[in-house]
Amino acid sequence: MSTTSVHDDFVERVRSSSDILAVISSYVHLKKKGNRYWGCCPFHNEKTPSFSVVPHQGFFYCFGCHAGGNVFKFLSLIENVSYYEAIKLQAQRLNIPIPTYRKNAREVAEEQERNDLLKIHELAGSFFHNCLTKTGLGAPGRDYFSTRQINSNIIEQFKLGYAPNLWDKLYTSFRKRGISSELLARSGLVTIKDTGKAYDRFRNRVIIPIADEHGHIVGFGGRIINNSDSPKYLNSPETVIFNKRYLLFGLNLAQKAIKEKDFAIVVEGYMDAISLHSYGITNAVASLGTAFTLQQCRKIMRFTPNIYFCYDSDSAGQAATMRALAIASSNGANVRVISIPDGKDPDEFVKKHGAEAFYALIDKALPLMEFQLRYVLKNVDANTLEGKLSAVNQLMPLLANISNAVERNEYIIRISNVLGVDEGVIRSDLQRQNSAKAYTDTNHANLNNPRKIVPDKQDALTRAGRCLIKKAWYENGVLDYVLSVVPAQEFPNKLHCEILTYMAQNHQANRACTDIDAAEKLSEAAYSELSHCLVEETPADNDIQFTADCLKLLRRHYLSTDYEKHRLLADQLQRSGDSRFIDELKITQHLRTQLDNL
Ligand code: UTP
Ligand code: MN
Repeated sequence: MSTTSVHDDFVERVRSSSDILAVISSYVHLKKKGNRYWGCCPFHNEKTPSFSVVPHQGFFYCFGCHAGGNVFKFLSLIENVSYYEAIKLQAQRLNIPIPTYRKNAREVAEEQERNDLLKIHELAGSFFHNCLTKTGLGAPGRDYFSTRQINSNIIEQFKLGYAPNLWDKLYTSFRKRGISSELLARSGLVTIKDTGKAYDRFRNRVIIPIADEHGHIVGFGGRIINNSDSPKYLNSPETVIFNKRYLLFGLNLAQKAIKEKDFAIVVEGYMDAISLHSYGITNAVASLGTAFTLQQCRKIMRFTPNIYFCYDSDSAGQAATMRALAIASSNGANVRVISIPDGKDPDEFVKKHGAEAFYALIDKALPLMEFQLRYVLKNVDANTLEGKLSAVNQLMPLLANISNAVERNEYIIRISNVLGVDEGVIRSDLQRQNSAKAYTDTNHANLNNPRKIVPDKQDALTRAGRCLIKKAWYENGVLDYVLSVVPAQEFPNKLHCEILTYMAQNHQANRACTDIDAAEKLSEAAYSELSHCLVEETPADNDIQFTADCLKLLRRHYLSTDYEKHRLLADQLQRSGDSRFIDELKITQHLRTQLDNL
């Protein structure tokens, strides 16, 4: 069996034909400095360039938000497509034919199902839209939208529609076009009863198509237009293309504005999002009636780290806001809350007071802790002991999440004043929480959100690790030597351990380390770090001495960590009268000699 496939050859061909500098330059204005190029990072907001491209190494890396990788990684981030779609996109641009790859039966069936469902949803979208805009049957829908002040521009933009007040209009017209009953049933557009009779799912409802971020319709929401006792909204059932956890209503129309304004507004209702768009507030999306999910948060964070929640002002909306804040902030988003002072939801507010008034609410949006504090205080009786206790218990974990000490202090003082609880009590409680938390947190920090701006304190050890990885990546034989001096697991930077372990495994299996292979096998964080290593500047002259110095630094760290470990153990054993302390002492002595000989 050959080790390279048609697929690998294709990817390699696209990569080697791609000029990373030309590709990135078409999106980012770059300036040359030395052997690298600098520009303002397209993946986070900045005024001074920290985004760099090193063309001869084929990598980019942003020192601000740590996005990095090869040309495909860049395309996938900037075009907001998967890594594989980025490869195909670049192949198309270079006119390299995409090999037809033989999928297994399940993959073929899945793709077929997706395509069938997408097509039928597209057709149904047009059916409902035409019914609303072009037929006599659509009159009730037109009346409804006009009472809600939704004009024809918005109807076109969101491709709004109407499902006629008939049992099987869609079914019969789609059957006539040769679409099978099975597919109609699978799409959820039609229900087929045991008797064999078919009914349209959506009848006498205005239709709000729900699209994915590329604008493909994947489901529908249908709203009742008169007061009846059926549910206000009927939505499409979940299918392989309609997964509510991953979707945000309006994202296809909002993503450009979200990027430009560098924040997103998340509302609860379809109608809220539609209304805000109609008033020119085009960075709004709606969360599809379910709780805000981690997946939705990640989706938004591909465009901005700043998320403003603007949920209904009723108690259900405020409770939902608290949950959404917890999810978004734990995923590294900067969150704020827009409060609607009167009227139930953003739709009512903007219609009553206009866009300017809504912008004023945005300006007054509350920061995370401020909202949480007010929420907790509003929902307890701070005059009773139980109320105070409950408030303190709810606020403590929220306080612990504030990383800025000055800010945290302000809140402690306020809470102590409002509740009449001693400041010292809050502080000591907090300390206990923090020490328990610190241990579990460190490993997760920054990994979730590569696009968050985390100043990268490059200490000497990290820099040494980066330089060695770079050298081992480009020069044969270096890896073995490096790892014989410092084992992969002993590199202080955990991402370096992952990268070196990966390199060693490839080396053992006689497989080349390529950026393409690494992009597949490494975690996101490690792949970004690898890009950082490969764009790391190393002195051009005195290369051998420099490498030796890096290695020495890491070896010293490794030996002294080991020394500390055995010394402590020896100490413990000796205290408990265990004679094995002698062995440990011998090891420490051996390590000491090695350290002295460095
Ligand atoms: P809302 O009742 O706030 O929706 O429910 P809305 O869009 O503001 O509706 P209008 O203004 O009364 O027309 C929020 C969201 O919850 C989901 C929908 O996604 C809705 O937009 N929902 C609500 C349902 O799925 N089914 C329901 O029966 C009600
Ligand atoms: Mn509403």
